[in-house]
Amino acid sequence: MKYIFGNWKMYLDYAESVKLASEIKNVSFDEDFEVSIFPTALAMVGVKDTLNGSNISVGAQDVMWVSKGAYTGAISAEMFKQVGCKYALVGHSERRHVFDESSDDTKKKIRACLDAGLIPVLCIGETKADRDNDKVKYRIKKQIVSALDGLKLDAKQIIFAYEPVWAIGTDTPCLPADADDIHGWIKMELSPFVSGNPAVLYGGSVDEQNMVSYLVLETVDGVLIGGASAKIESFATLLETAIK
Ligand code: PGA
Repeated sequence: MKYIFGNWKMYLDYAESVKLASEIKNVSFDEDFEVSIFPTALAMVGVKDTLNGSNISVGAQDVMWVSKGAYTGAISAEMFKQVGCKYALVGHSERRHVFDESSDDTKKKIRACLDAGLIPVLCIGETKADRDNDKVKYRIKKQIVSALDGLKLDAKQIIFAYEPVWAIGTDTPCLPADADDIHGWIKMELSPFVSGNPAVLYGGSVDEQNMVSYLVLETVDGVLIGGASAKIESFATLLETAIK
C-alpha cells in the first residue's frame, strides 16, 4: 500500500474546498492507495461530509496539544478526531518556519495526536542552508530525536514525511535517487523509536509528471502533495496516474 496525501494548506476557501472534494470523489483510484485530504480547519466538516461514502479520508494540517481551554485560535487533536479526522500533519515546515513552531511544540503535538487516536504525520527535512553546509543528516536526526524522545511506537501509529524545505513549493523537487538514499537512512534512524517498517512519504514539488518516479521506490511509501493537490486538473491526474 502507498499513500497519496493532499495538503491543501490555505489555498482554498470553504466553498472551493467543498467543490474540489466533490470533484475528486468521482475520480477512481487503485485500492492499493490510501488517499487523504488535509483541508483548512474551516472546511474540515464540509469536506468530510462531501467525501462521505468514498474511501478518501481527511486529516488536520495542525493541532493544539491541550484538548480544551483558553487557547484563542487553536483547535485540539481531540476536536479533529471527533469530527472524523484520521491523520494530522505535525511539524510541517511552514509551521516550523513561518509560525516559529519549536521542537518542543512538535513533540507535544505528536503526543496529543497519539492520545486522541489520530495518526500523526511527522514532517522532517533540512533547509537549503543545512544542505549547503552538509548538515542534512544532522538536522533530520535532531528533528526525529526531539519529536520522538521517550516514545516506543508501532509503525501503524505514526507516519513520516521527508520534506526538504528547499523543495517545497519551488518546482525543484529532491531527485528520486537522493530521496531514496535519505529515506533508507531515515528508516534506520527511526528504529529506536518505531518498530516494524514505518511509512516515510516524500513531499516537495511533487506533481503529476514526477509522482510515479517516487512511488516506484521501495523506500518511499507515498507522497505528500501541496500545490498540485489543490487543483482538480492535477489532483485527478495524480490519482488516475497512480492506477498504472
Ligand atoms: P508542494 O508542498 O507540493 O507545494 O511543494 C508540499 C508540502 O508542503 O507538503
